[in-house]
Amino acid sequence: IAEQFESGILAGVSVVITAGPTREAIDPVRYISNHSSGKMGYALAAAARDAGARVTVISGPVNILPPERVRVVPVSSALDMLQAAQSEQEHCQIFIAAAAVADYRPAQVAEQKVKKSTDELTLTLIKNPDIVATVAAQENAPFTVGFAAETQDVEHYARDKLNRKKLAMIIANDVSRNDIGFNSDDNAVSVFWPTGEARYEAMSKQQLARHLITLMADRYQEYLL
Ligand code: CTP
Ligand code: CA
Repeated sequence: IAEQFESGILAGVSVVITAGPTREAIDPVRYISNHSSGKMGYALAAAARDAGARVTVISGPVNILPPERVRVVPVSSALDMLQAAQSEQEHCQIFIAAAAVADYRPAQVAEQKVKKSTDELTLTLIKNPDIVATVAAQENAPFTVGFAAETQDVEHYARDKLNRKKLAMIIANDVSRNDIGFNSDDNAVSVFWPTGEARYEAMSKQQLARHLITLMADRYQEYLL
C-alpha cells in the first residue's frame, strides 16, 4: 500500500467527503443529533490527500481537528449539508458520503426558546432529503460512494441502498457490534459494488481508510474505461 500511495493513485482527482453528524434545530438553544465522531470521514480525507487527491470535507460539528492540506466546509443541518454538497459535487470526480445525516428534522423551528409547560410534549419531525442519492442522481454525477449503517442482514440492506441510491460503491458497517464503528477508533466493514465485494476485519480507521481509498481508486479507474 505504501508504494501505491507514494505514486499518487488519485493524483489530479478531486474528492469531496461528507463527515460527522448533522444538527437539527428545535429552537435557538436545542437540537437533535447523533454520536457520529467524524473520525471515519476525516481518515478518508487524509488517505485521499496522501493518494494525491485534492480533498474537500463537508463537515458537520465534530470535536476533532481536520487533516492538514484538506479544505473544510463547515455545516450544521442536513439542509446546509445538502446545499454544500450540491455546489461542491460539480467540481469533483469522487464523492464519498461518510456523514451520519439526521434522517428527520423538526417540522418547525421555534424562533424563541421553547418554554416548559405540559407534562408531555410531542415533536413533529419531517424527513430530510437524501444527500448522497441527490448527488448520484445528477447528470454527470461523480463516482459516488455511500456508507450503510446496519444492525442485521448487512449485505441485503447494503445492496438495497447501493441500488436504490444509484451508488458506485457502498461501505457497510455492522453497528450492532459495539467494539467498532461510530465513536470507536476501529472499524470493520464489508464493501459492495454492482459486480463484487470485499471485506475488512477490524483495524484502525486510518488503516482502513487507506484500504478503502485504494479500492475506490481501482473501481474508479475501471468506471472511467
Ligand atoms: N445519507 C445521506 N443523506 C441522508 C441520509 C443518509 O446522504 N439524509 C447517506 C449517508 O451519508 C450514508 C448513506 O446515505 O452514506 C446511508 O445512510 P444510512 O443511514 O445507512 O441509510 P438511510 O438511507 O438513511 O436508511 P436507514 O437509516 O433507514 O437505514
Ligand atoms: Ca439513516
